[in-house]
Amino acid sequence: MLNITYISHSAFILSDGAHTLAIDPFITGNPTAKITANDVHPNFIFVTHAHGDHLGDTIALAKANNSQVICVNELATWLSSQGVNAHPMHIGGSFKFPFGSIKITIAHHGSKADNGEYMGEPCGVIIKMGDKTVYHTGDTGLFLDMKLIGQLNKPDVMLVPIGDNFTMGIDDATTAVDFVRPELAIPMHFNTFPIIPADPKEFVAKVEKIGCKAKALDYSETISL
Ligand code: NI
Ligand code: MN
Repeated sequence: MLNITYISHSAFILSDGAHTLAIDPFITGNPTAKITANDVHPNFIFVTHAHGDHLGDTIALAKANNSQVICVNELATWLSSQGVNAHPMHIGGSFKFPFGSIKITIAHHGSKADNGEYMGEPCGVIIKMGDKTVYHTGDTGLFLDMKLIGQLNKPDVMLVPIGDNFTMGIDDATTAVDFVRPELAIPMHFNTFPIIPADPKEFVAKVEKIGCKAKALDYSETISL
């Protein structure tokens, strides 16, 4: 069993009943989040890259909840210097955690932190938890290797950006879903700011046309798999 809660933007909470994993917990300053950072109590946090709309509340949450933060080595090293318990990984690597496993994938994007320092490569992630496999692409453009990611990992759920400008837009995101062929695609990274407008209904319709299933989650909505 796996519960997936959509905070908004690229922020999700995964829970198997025993463990809670937050992904890209951008809550404070997120105009679409319906909760505050105090409402989230993750055991683990996964961060795809250092941009403020993904790193978000990671440091405060990790300190308040004694969470372990999982991310690429460069970002993990910096988080460790900030007093955070960080587990460094890198692209292509996987590791078993108490909740399941993490494998880091490529993403085509950037990863500069608000302090001006570059924090290594951005990434996506394959999460195995609660007998389900979730692929969070991170912020990325479309890339053909998504086909291989789909073939090798057979994700139940794909979390895919559709807001365009900084990431894939709806048409590229639909092609990405076609490459990966998940059981369910959930759109993210749209309508948080005026620069990334997208109609999730258009995405859902286009994904259905290629014979896959998509569902746009409301802010704070939880689905159980
Ligand atoms: Ni970004
Ligand atoms: Mn972003």
